Amino acid sequence: MKTATATAHSNIALVKYWGKRADVDRNLNLPAVGSLSMTLDGLRTVTTVAEASEDAFVLDGAQAGGKPEQKVFAFLDRLWASAHDTPRPRCAVTSVNHLPTAAGLASSASGFAALATAGASAFELDMSLPTLSQWARMGSGSAARSIYGGFVRLDAGTAEDGSDCVARPLPGVEDWPLRLVVVQTTRGSKPVGSTEGMQASRDTSPYYQAWVDTSIPDLDAAQAAIEARDLPRLGGIVEHSCFKMHACMMATVPPIMYWKPASLAVIQTVWAARQEGVHGYVTMDAGPHVKILCLADDAESIAARCRAVPGVEEVNLCAPGPGASVEVSA
Ligand code: DP6
Repeated sequence: MKTATATAHSNIALVKYWGKRADVDRNLNLPAVGSLSMTLDGLRTVTTVAEASEDAFVLDGAQAGGKPEQKVFAFLDRLWASAHDTPRPRCAVTSVNHLPTAAGLASSASGFAALATAGASAFELDMSLPTLSQWARMGSGSAARSIYGGFVRLDAGTAEDGSDCVARPLPGVEDWPLRLVVVQTTRGSKPVGSTEGMQASRDTSPYYQAWVDTSIPDLDAAQAAIEARDLPRLGGIVEHSCFKMHACMMATVPPIMYWKPASLAVIQTVWAARQEGVHGYVTMDAGPHVKILCLADDAESIAARCRAVPGVEEVNLCAPGPGASVEVSA
């Protein structure tokens, strides 16, 4: 095998993924809903996979044991076995997250996109980008989107084997100066992880089916708004998708409530700015941080307003970013 170092950038869903298909092989990690995202610059994971005398996973300079390590090597086992009958060579996996402390963005998207890309090259598997994206998805649903830069649409598909659950890049980001203002409202880890939260919502939230049923129209509408470079239209869909997802989360038993008082205060600040003609559109994921989609010209003004909100810890600006890349050495 080779030594391969991959870089993958984080992404933020504009149309959200929350929920997995129940009727299929769980290892495929197939989403119940499609999603549409923007890949971000600056926020990235760099991962090296190299042959070693024993398996070891070093994350941000420290030996990572337990579940993260198990997930990484279970993933590499399956990746290797997809093309070989022989036992997988032992591997040293080194991963560094370049996520500003304020980002509050999950590293699983960039993490599994980087691992899939580095692993495939290290094992000398000649994979197309759609195939790489499907492998990244098996690690984490949102990672499927981080294989590509700019806007990315991931359709849920209906096939048993997940063959039509494929991410694809959408044109539009090159000539549209968008920014994402990332507002961190608290520090520390999230109370309920995405994977377990999604399962609980599927099992108990009375709004889950409505959430699933309205996903495809949201995806199509968001794609059309991107094609038209229509930010108010896109922003309306972004907020609707976000609040539907959070309504579904909150109606889960027991409730999944990611919001902090400062999250709501930031949302209201962004909406007040909109009344004054500064157009930002909010979204939130499985955590209390608020991310605001806006034009580059409005980003500083929105960031300044958010910094003034009590409870806000830090604010960062992100531009659209590129797809995953890899360097291979002997
Ligand atoms: C709320 O991709 O972290 O950020 O597939 O279980 O690893 P797994 O889930 P993950 O979920 C992301 C959920 C979200 C919305 C999104 O990114 O689309």
